[in-house]
Amino acid sequence: MENPAGVRGYVVTAVDVAGRPGRSNIAIDLGCGSDVVPLYLIGRGWRVLAIDKDPTVVAHLRARAEKQRSGRLSAVCADFQEIPLPRASLIHAGYALQYAHPASFADLWRRISAALYPDGVFAGHFFGQKDQFAKYDQFSAFKSEALQILFADWRIEHWHEFHGPGHRDPSRLWHFFTVVAKLPGNPT
Ligand SMILES: C[S@@+](CC[C@H](N)C(=O)[O-])C[C@H]1O[C@@H](n2cnc3c(N)ncnc32)[C@H](O)[C@@H]1O
Repeated sequence: MENPAGVRGYVVTAVDVAGRPGRSNIAIDLGCGSDVVPLYLIGRGWRVLAIDKDPTVVAHLRARAEKQRSGRLSAVCADFQEIPLPRASLIHAGYALQYAHPASFADLWRRISAALYPDGVFAGHFFGQKDQFAKYDQFSAFKSEALQILFADWRIEHWHEFHGPGHRDPSRLWHFFTVVAKLPGNPT
């Protein structure tokens, strides 16, 4: 499918992999940061719960939701490490999960996995250990092997590791993984 302006390719892949929103057409965007992914998901037929702890982001999203009058966007100002997650078929977390404290990451990941229905899709990023911020204790960063263990029971649909300078700011050294993965379905 064509990559709409501003929507990263892995998000398009995730929505394609998730298929047509059916009985549960709920998607969650953790640390959404902007309206780009929530509006794209709505355009693809999803109901979206967008969560961000930044009140400016949430106010902007609420204004967009009101303008659209679609009733398919809920924007909540909250810490994704604390807010209960409803059941969903698609969870996106773009450049956000590194902000989960390492001590609480396992609990967050358990809640993300438990919120997804069978056949549910996760899409997002994880910091690698060579990222320049990985040395700070408050960020969650992973070795490739540890991430593979995290996704041991999932079907990997997209896996990309980037280690290098940023495009906008070449002095910023990035190391991150982009992952799209699907939970197993119910046995038939
Ligand atoms: C780097 S931005 C990424 C934005 C967007 N998801 C993307 O892919 O471009 C990270 C976002 O996560 C939000 N965020 C960070 N920690 C959070 C937390 N614990 N709970 C909710 N939102 C959080 C920030 O406010 C920010 O909007």
